[in-house]
Amino acid sequence: MRIGLLTGGGDAPGLNAVIRAAVLSAASRGWDVVGIKHGFAGLLGDCVVAPLTRSTVSAIAHLGGTILRTTNRGNPLCFPIRNDDGTFTEKDCSPELIDNVARQGIDAIVAIGGDGTLTIALELVRQGLRIVGVPTTIDNDVSGTITTFGFDTAVNTAIEAIDKLHTTAESHDRVIVMEVMGRDAGFIALHAGVAATADVILIPELPYDIDKVCEKINSRDRAGQNFSIVVAAEGAFPKSGTIPGPDGGTISRKIRPGGVAERLIEEIHARTGKECRSLVLGHLQRGGMPTGYDRLLATRFGAAAITAIENEAWGEMVALQSPHIVTIPISEVIKEQKRVDLSHDVVQAARTTGVSLGD
Ligand code: F6P
Repeated sequence: MRIGLLTGGGDAPGLNAVIRAAVLSAASRGWDVVGIKHGFAGLLGDCVVAPLTRSTVSAIAHLGGTILRTTNRGNPLCFPIRNDDGTFTEKDCSPELIDNVARQGIDAIVAIGGDGTLTIALELVRQGLRIVGVPTTIDNDVSGTITTFGFDTAVNTAIEAIDKLHTTAESHDRVIVMEVMGRDAGFIALHAGVAATADVILIPELPYDIDKVCEKINSRDRAGQNFSIVVAAEGAFPKSGTIPGPDGGTISRKIRPGGVAERLIEEIHARTGKECRSLVLGHLQRGGMPTGYDRLLATRFGAAAITAIENEAWGEMVALQSPHIVTIPISEVIKEQKRVDLSHDVVQAARTTGVSLGD
């Protein structure tokens, strides 16, 4: 058995721990593993793969990033080809990819990535490749698994930042709005905000009313707490469904330009008169050493992926369904993105501890 490993989509702390566990688990069965660089796109063109051995993966489990590199561009099913006039045409390069897999003598692939990578994997399984998936994302928005590795590390990074913002916000009687990642899911904002005792948490699952946000800030002022911390998911949006555009008009919620924190501080200042500052935590959330939780989960996923290959679970993805790691069909997983369940006890805990969710 010769297994190809690849990492696709946005990176997340824990990827190297998955790679290590998969390589060692395969080696313990006498199987060979090769690394494919830059996700599925690495199986196009010259397609150079490199052996992954016990020594290649030694001492990498604690490192952030991925030794295989990754990309969230260049989907081989609609690969952008540059025309002479500078424009791009999308081409289905799956025949070339499938040829390269055969040419490299790769019998099965472990595809480690988020919903984009898993969707590509499923299509290639339908075209005859033997692939199992491992879910990865700091956003925690993959259905069918209680959590993804990388999420815990990202939440801890956000908590540390909020803790630091608290002291300076209090010293200056300011409102500080911190924007976190998560795309259309509010898990990072909610978990970090509740754990780090933010005053307002705004998530995409619950469109906010800016007057309610300001009401919370004003009520804190009246109680002598002259500072507030607002944690906003990058996908948070107002109840109206539109957000103010640069020229005073509005832009649709779907064209998310980022800059949620910047917009919020302008609106909060205009309504409360308070001095406001913003911070976009950005890619700091994707970097750094994975937490112990993420390292363990990633190791479990890597080992389980090789078991899935042994079981010929093509088109399935490993998932945490506590206390077990299971495999589930990717076709089920990609039907729907996981979002924050508003009846979950974390949401209730936020409300009962006095956090405003802006609604
Ligand atoms: O999906 C992971 C994620 O970090 C999102 O939270 C974020 O919106 C996006 O990727 C950022 O992507 P990029 O690395 O392309 O800026």
